Amino acid sequence: MPTSKLPIVILISGSGSNLQAIIDATGKDKLPVDIRAVISNRPDAGGLQRASRAQLHTAVIDHTQFHDRETFGAALSQCIDNFEPKLVVLAGFMRLLTDDFVNHYSGRILNIHPSLLPAFKGLNTHVRALAAFKEGTVKKHGASVHFVTAELDGGPVILQARLPITQNDSPETLATRVLKREHQIYPQAIRWFAEDRLCLQGNQVWLDGRVLNTPVVVDHS
Ligand code: GAR
Repeated sequence: MPTSKLPIVILISGSGSNLQAIIDATGKDKLPVDIRAVISNRPDAGGLQRASRAQLHTAVIDHTQFHDRETFGAALSQCIDNFEPKLVVLAGFMRLLTDDFVNHYSGRILNIHPSLLPAFKGLNTHVRALAAFKEGTVKKHGASVHFVTAELDGGPVILQARLPITQNDSPETLATRVLKREHQIYPQAIRWFAEDRLCLQGNQVWLDGRVLNTPVVVDHS
């Protein structure tokens, strides 16, 4: 197991509760990462305040200041690379990334998505999961940590938290329950990577020296 901390950069767009879970895990759970910077594409992202409170370096690369995704992606990766991270962590980062960007970080970029991928890629996952539950086609929902590839929300999945949908759920209650589990599985997957237990080779996830044919699933009631 490596003795030094893994340098990481975290990208956010919003409230940054997953960022907070990672920050907290570096303290109480001794997650062995050095958060070199938190970068937002939105100047008003609440997560920037969380980062400042934790005395982390912050930067904003405002996507509205760029003509296209390519120039935005190039500026973003230049900013990231200044901090020389070994892992880039997307924590509620809500911009589409170019193939060039994703390929540049191949095997060292993770994302968390609020669904049991491959179900419900894209936006409004809780609304769609609940609708599917009411149609009788889906019973469970959750969140997935995956390596990022050029296909949106399509990279190999590492770890999932799964929970039952109930008759009483609304999109809001579902979102709250899923988010709570996101805060557990994201630090866990980052720990595996930081401890050299997790990697991507080609399109295959390796964990503890074995190919992961299906994601690790943590079930909750
Ligand atoms: C989280 O639910 C995360 O899974 C989702 O955005 C939220 C960010 O919350 N990400 C995506 O939908 C990416 N496709 P946070 O800012 O409180 O961490």
